[in-house]
Amino acid sequence: MEEKDISQAVVSRLPRYLRYLADLKDEGIERISSQELSKRMHVTASQIRQDLNHFGGFGQQGYGYNVESLYLEIAKILGLDHQHYLVIIGAGNLGQALLNYMNFARRGFIFKGIFDSNPQLHGMKIRDMEVKPMEELKDFICENNIDIAVLTIPKASAVAVTEQLIECKIKAIWNFAHVDLAVPEDVQVENVHLSDSLMKLSYNIRRNR
Ligand code: NAI
Repeated sequence: MEEKDISQAVVSRLPRYLRYLADLKDEGIERISSQELSKRMHVTASQIRQDLNHFGGFGQQGYGYNVESLYLEIAKILGLDHQHYLVIIGAGNLGQALLNYMNFARRGFIFKGIFDSNPQLHGMKIRDMEVKPMEELKDFICENNIDIAVLTIPKASAVAVTEQLIECKIKAIWNFAHVDLAVPEDVQVENVHLSDSLMKLSYNIRRNR
């Protein structure tokens, strides 16, 4: 099957496979059957087989999966075999929290800069990185090969900032602002709404009451 035919539902499960495989690697486990993986991940073995079959399977009858090679293949499919360079736009609570979280770098997501429109924040250091003015954004994106912009600004500003990012030929936007962004087809947007996850939790609490 061509990779373009893979559903987003399958793609959205791949990071979870990767996390479990990373844990298995850390435990020194070299191979695992789909049944064992299924027990650990609380998904059916057939779901695992179906998901991984989209990419050619990787498993062998009677052997299971080689943890290291499956990990590397999934990482490659997810584009994690090379680094991504990011800028954060909005150096408030959320922007600072993301910059302070060290584990993104482990997966190859490297924060290169943080920007804000508030002059009072310019020059302030977060993890040794100075907050820069928005006027420097465009040149910075071109000069530093930035492919992902992280939007941690209020929704009122997000649309105008997105227009600037499109002019800068940004490849992707990790959008935390609570607004849907209109972008050209070649710009990828991933919206993150933590409150959606909380609302799902609330639904499940209500259902089980
Ligand atoms: P904050 O008020 O601490 O920080 C926002 C920062 O954006 C400020 O430093 C402000 O100067 C800057 N800013 C505003 N307009 C700008 C512009 N045009 N260009 C550059 N910088 C600009 O807010 P916080 O708590 O960091 O949240 C940021 C945004 O993310 C809020 O709109 C909030 O609603 C949203 N949010 C989204 C979450 C999600 O799960 N999607 C979770 C938490 C917050």
